[in-house]
Amino acid sequence: MAHATPLAPELHTLLCRMPKAELHIHIEGSLEPELIFALAQRNGVALPHPSVEALRAAYAFTDLQSFLDIYYAGASVLLHEQDFHDMAWAYFQRAAADHVVHAELFFDPQTHTERGVAMGTVIHGLRSACERAQAELGISSALILCFLRHLSEEEAFATLEAALPYRPHFIGVGLDSSERGHPPEKFARVFARCRELGLHIVAHAGEEGPPAYIESALDVLKAERIDHGVRCTESPALVARLAATRMPLTVCPLSNIKLCVYGSLAEHPLPALLDAGLCATVNSDDPAYFGGYINQNFVETFAALPQLGRAQAYQLARNSFEASFVPAAQKQRWVAQLDAAFA
Ligand code: ADE
Ligand code: ZN
Repeated sequence: MAHATPLAPELHTLLCRMPKAELHIHIEGSLEPELIFALAQRNGVALPHPSVEALRAAYAFTDLQSFLDIYYAGASVLLHEQDFHDMAWAYFQRAAADHVVHAELFFDPQTHTERGVAMGTVIHGLRSACERAQAELGISSALILCFLRHLSEEEAFATLEAALPYRPHFIGVGLDSSERGHPPEKFARVFARCRELGLHIVAHAGEEGPPAYIESALDVLKAERIDHGVRCTESPALVARLAATRMPLTVCPLSNIKLCVYGSLAEHPLPALLDAGLCATVNSDDPAYFGGYINQNFVETFAALPQLGRAQAYQLARNSFEASFVPAAQKQRWVAQLDAAFA
């Protein structure tokens, strides 16, 4: 086990208070056990675990799949627009406390449509929370629709078709769920169609899957950001390519530990990625399941890795704005806020 050095109080405060963007958060992964139980009761949904404590105790994962099985079961309580709103609103309140000024939220419509929930219910519920976050918390946000890669490309096409009436409400598409055995090229045609539609493209790659999946996410899907991407470290040529193109990686340190990608945070490659000049960012992935929201990710990772200090904190926050899908003028305003926080 890593022996985490206590974080200097000034660095702790800086990490928590600096303005930041969160670019890798599955909104269904922000569903806390308390809210799962409240929604189950409100909607008359039976749960396999008898209590909040029993559910939380089941969060002992051995790999990505062992997590996904529980994560999809948790999402079964989401039925109505209000449920999606309440889930996202709870996230935004936590994000505001963590000084997140912009969030790009993943959602998994197939998890819901396959249970008979309409696409419009999902998207309208999430959108209303996004609008409320802007109005009441000053957080800007956007939605990214993710295709489940364990399902077929045909099903991804059907999902895209169902989402098109809501096209103004999401800015891009992503690829998530079980990575091994489901390479990006399985979805080549549907992502080509998404590009024609002017959607931003991101993809999970190199979380559990090999560096070759990162390459095919770039070359075949034309991804503009790689979610996770940490296994790029196994290919020096790929690291050099990612650095040369400033291809963002949305890294999720606590997720990587909970899903046993690394044995401890002390072994995490975040410092090496930054040293290599990559546009790495820190994110929470599924914070209700992995032990913390974005600031917890920053604080625990910096505490475990003494190579990370003030300069890396600044770089990570700056990268989060650089990697976001917002106009350049807005990025500049946030970078100016960031500079003020470090002045
Ligand atoms: N869906 C939710 N979290 C995920 C992760 N970390 N990897 C792949 N799919 C996911
Ligand atoms: Zn993820």
